[in-house]
Amino acid sequence: MPAKDNVQIAPADGTLGVLIPGIGAVSTTFMAGVEAVKRGLGAPVGSLTQLATIRLGKRTEGRSPLIKDFVPLAGLNDLVFGGWDIYEDTAYEAATNAKVLDTSLLDQVKQPLSAIRPMKAVFDPEYIRRINGPNVKDKGTKMDKAEMLMEDIQQFRKQHNCSRLVMIWCASTEVYHRPAPVHQTLKDFECGLMKNDPEIAPSQIYAYAALKSGVPFANGAPNLTTDTPALLDLAKERNLPICGKDFKTGQTFMKTLIAPGLKARMLGLNGWFSTNILGNRDGEVLEDPGSFKTKEETKLSVLDQILQPKLYPELYKNFYHAVRINYYPPRGDAKEGWDNIDIFGWLGYPMQIKINFLCRDSILAAPLVLDLVLFMDLAQRTGMRGIQEWLSFYFKAPMHAPELYPEHDIFIQLMKLKNTLRWMRGEDLITHLGLEYYD
Ligand SMILES: NC(=O)c1ccc[n+]([C@@H]2O[C@H](COP(=O)([O-])OP(=O)(O)OC[C@H]3O[C@@H](n4cnc5c(N)ncnc54)[C@H](O)[C@@H]3O)[C@@H](O)[C@H]2O)c1
Repeated sequence: MPAKDNVQIAPADGTLGVLIPGIGAVSTTFMAGVEAVKRGLGAPVGSLTQLATIRLGKRTEGRSPLIKDFVPLAGLNDLVFGGWDIYEDTAYEAATNAKVLDTSLLDQVKQPLSAIRPMKAVFDPEYIRRINGPNVKDKGTKMDKAEMLMEDIQQFRKQHNCSRLVMIWCASTEVYHRPAPVHQTLKDFECGLMKNDPEIAPSQIYAYAALKSGVPFANGAPNLTTDTPALLDLAKERNLPICGKDFKTGQTFMKTLIAPGLKARMLGLNGWFSTNILGNRDGEVLEDPGSFKTKEETKLSVLDQILQPKLYPELYKNFYHAVRINYYPPRGDAKEGWDNIDIFGWLGYPMQIKINFLCRDSILAAPLVLDLVLFMDLAQRTGMRGIQEWLSFYFKAPMHAPELYPEHDIFIQLMKLKNTLRWMRGEDLITHLGLEYYD
């Protein structure tokens, strides 16, 4: 263990409340999974906080503790869950409808999941078009609704005797919006809430309520949400961490594995065509062109950032990149993604790579939710505020400082995450230089 931590980390004592807008496929797979792991019914595969180790010091030292033994994280037994949805289904019913996990497994965690009843949601059909439900706060201005959410948060905190809370957006993808004048300053934003400004999305009302209540906020969908000066300022003012956007699972995860490899070997790219079929509620919402546009933006952005066509025009200047998502109900949550990648090598000779990923969206997303909750709580106890770039590892469109470009290469993201943990605990950062081994 290090002689002295770089930063003061408050202990992870007491109960950590996890508040989730959106009791759907991802969030119920996450909650059911945590309950299953607690009972020894399954393993937390895909979760760094539960399974990964971190190398410390030199390669000759043999020090590789588990991350969860290296930094003080909340334990799975310390988590309590709550959330909001436009439907009244309990987490058990929602998980059953989502059909991600087997009924035989769900029945073994029925009791805790049935106790999670969604609170009334803040919803606007202008932002999410293909679904509508009865469990909504339908009176008052946007500011009144923010206050009702703050009241929900307070109630939850009291009822479960939480020492700390984290909020993570697992609700549907909202339609595409750019930052508007109302998002520029906190004062404008609060005025806008009072005047029901149409540019303020429900996800921003949740984020505002969270930050005003002293709760860190993570965004698992591609919506703009906290990516606005007003909410960034609020996070900084309240000393709270925020992060987003859009969980990096499935096809984009694959893209950020392969593209850095092609670039590392200076192989060129003529085109990358990605298409998907999926049949869950997420797929249904993404049939709406507005929601798809939000998703398309985050999915398209990764290749440009990784391949840097401006630096390597002869390899990447004119590559054609298209992403399609097709709603196909028979598949449910078992998405199928195809990629056709047209690359070229020595003297421009063409080659192709085909990927057919038969993945399970929520199975890939659930461990990311767990890690984000635990790391956001760690960040909160460490006093880290504003954008948590070290959590880019988890996102398709990582939030970043305005003067920087986002880092999409998953291996650089992982190094950054682990070096941040080393930095917290006063350990040497690992540069992989290693000349000393050959002195
Ligand atoms: N599964 C993945 O791999 C993955 C990857 C990246 C991003 N995401 C995003 O995560 C989110 C959740 O995905 P999912 O598969 O669980 O979708 P889902 O449709 O099963 O669940 C979303 C839930 O949010 C609810 N909802 C919609 N608007 C709401 C509001 N304003 N307040 C409260 N609840 C609201 C819906 O009723 C629904 O139950 C989506 O935005 C999706 O795009 C998922």
